[in-house]
Amino acid sequence: MKFQVPKGTQDILPSETWKWQRAEKIINEVCDVYRYKEIRTPIFEQTELFQRLVGETTDVVQKEMYTFTDKGDRSMTLRPEGTASTVRSFVENKMFGYADQPVKLFYTGPMFRYERQQAGRYRQFVQFGAEAIGSADPAIDAEVIALALDVYKRVGLTKLKLVINSLGDSECRVAHRAALIDHFNPHIGEFCGDCQSRLEKNPLRILDCKVDSANPLLASAPSLADYLNEASATYFADVKGYLDDAGIAYEVDTNLVRGLDYYNHTAFEIMSTSEGFGAITTLCGGGRYNGLAEEIGGPSAPGIGFAMSIERLLLAMAAEGVSFEAEPALDVYIVTLGESARRPGFKLLGELRAAGIRADMDYMDRKLKAQMKSADRLDAKNVIIIGEDEVTEGVVQLKNMMDSTQEKVPFTELIAKLIATLNV
Ligand code: HAM
Repeated sequence: MKFQVPKGTQDILPSETWKWQRAEKIINEVCDVYRYKEIRTPIFEQTELFQRLVGETTDVVQKEMYTFTDKGDRSMTLRPEGTASTVRSFVENKMFGYADQPVKLFYTGPMFRYERQQAGRYRQFVQFGAEAIGSADPAIDAEVIALALDVYKRVGLTKLKLVINSLGDSECRVAHRAALIDHFNPHIGEFCGDCQSRLEKNPLRILDCKVDSANPLLASAPSLADYLNEASATYFADVKGYLDDAGIAYEVDTNLVRGLDYYNHTAFEIMSTSEGFGAITTLCGGGRYNGLAEEIGGPSAPGIGFAMSIERLLLAMAAEGVSFEAEPALDVYIVTLGESARRPGFKLLGELRAAGIRADMDYMDRKLKAQMKSADRLDAKNVIIIGEDEVTEGVVQLKNMMDSTQEKVPFTELIAKLIATLNV
């Protein structure tokens, strides 16, 4: 029987993991600068949490969740996104009582959606997300957007487009919803089954339908922009004002609706405009979710956040031809010749590592030439050669691979010398 990685998932091999580590390091640094603190929540939650918070009528809840019954007969779901868990934790841990509001959190971890596999779309993917909960200040909307953009900037991406929209508050949504139903109802027979059931439950989602995207009734549908009440329009104008002041360029797209139900007011996406970037161009999505904490019994705690997958961030980097600085080379490779040199060589290896020097040696009983080849392949900056004579004399041959010089160095002076030349 041949086993394979499950469809829509991938093994990330050492030739790639270092890039993930770099991306995560940058994410941690940027979050630190913005004072967002990391939260780690479980990978699975009660199914009802996602049904309630992400929304019953969304594709994510209806079609894409990995749901199972545990041995205690409870319905559990592998998290498809991080906002629901973060808000659950915010309410459960009474973070609304913290002296410093809003509470600014971020997470990086695997999410699971049973989606059709294609480039940039996986069934297990890693999302970095940030959430600021407890403030309804339009400035924090701009801050969250700036944070996402800064991460992309720090990894070297430049071909980006920020698209924003306002989804208004519940008052405008009710009016817009009624207008949408009136608009689609006479022609609903022309739409897919999903849209037909969306008509009454969530007509806004029809605008986002992948099957009916070419239907002209989508383009002529009443725009939410025309239904924004004064408070919502002012809020949106303020968010744009803060973005302008911060020098952040954006496009307003009144058709931008997000695939999850919890949004109101600000919604945004960041796309890659790089030519090489495949069909899915959205790198990051987010928005405001006032009312989500109340939905699960918490107090009123307006929030805003976003999430981006590391997979798409790395794909965008590849498409733009930008890369992280290469991994640092190995500092030292130890070559031993003959039985009597092995144990002193192994002991030295331990001492080098204890001094913070990145070192390795041969474990395949290779001949001198093959060991030197290994050192080359590993891009070692130095090679230490120990033979029987060196052991007797208490010295090693230290070869600097960068300038090909070689010198005899006493064991006792070796580590200090390496530390001085390597800057460790
Ligand atoms: P979302 O738009 O569903 O929003 O996902 C956000 C990002 O996650 C996408 O832009 C994309 O980078 C990545 N993503 C989603 N699905 C996949 C997939 N199948 N494969 C690879 N990457 C994927 C949310 O998840 C919200 N929780 C964002 C948010 C946070 N809103 C407020 N706070």
